[in-house]
Amino acid sequence: MKVVAGVAGAAAAGAVVVPAVAVVGAAANAPRLPGRPPGSDDGWRTVARWEQLAVGTPLQAHVIGAEVDAWNVSPDRRLGTVWLLRGGEGPETLRALSAVCPHLGCLIDHTERGFVCPCHNSDFSARGAALRGPSPRSMDPIEARVRDGRVEVRWARFRLGGAERIREEG
Ligand code: FES
Repeated sequence: MKVVAGVAGAAAAGAVVVPAVAVVGAAANAPRLPGRPPGSDDGWRTVARWEQLAVGTPLQAHVIGAEVDAWNVSPDRRLGTVWLLRGGEGPETLRALSAVCPHLGCLIDHTERGFVCPCHNSDFSARGAALRGPSPRSMDPIEARVRDGRVEVRWARFRLGGAERIREEG
């Protein structure tokens, strides 16, 4: 099985940037959701088609998937929202940033100059680096890849309000 090949260096916002055309294959040994057959859910969610992304123009996409707690699986819930960025390290590179503001969790907007959180006016660069305002850190990176023309992400939540990026479970 082929896996991610050629991961590029970390970017200003701490995002992992992958050459989109070099990413093929599925994650192995992924945890399985209750009530689903093995292999049916490895956490990757399709959020767009690769051709929908224009170089230099971020695309907002919702992450839809099953919400799981100790007893229930609720299918087709909005798990989160990401900004997809094509280009930056070359036209065939992809990165995804969480649209959840690291300050208190408002939805981050895109502007001509980069990103802004409308709740308390945190400004971020076009690559998601924190510039001004109360956000304690840059926008949070989300794992992303392109597979058979589909843009896929692995949604993750991070603890709000701290400079350290701490991934939350569930
Ligand atoms: S929630 Fe984004 S700046 Fe406060």
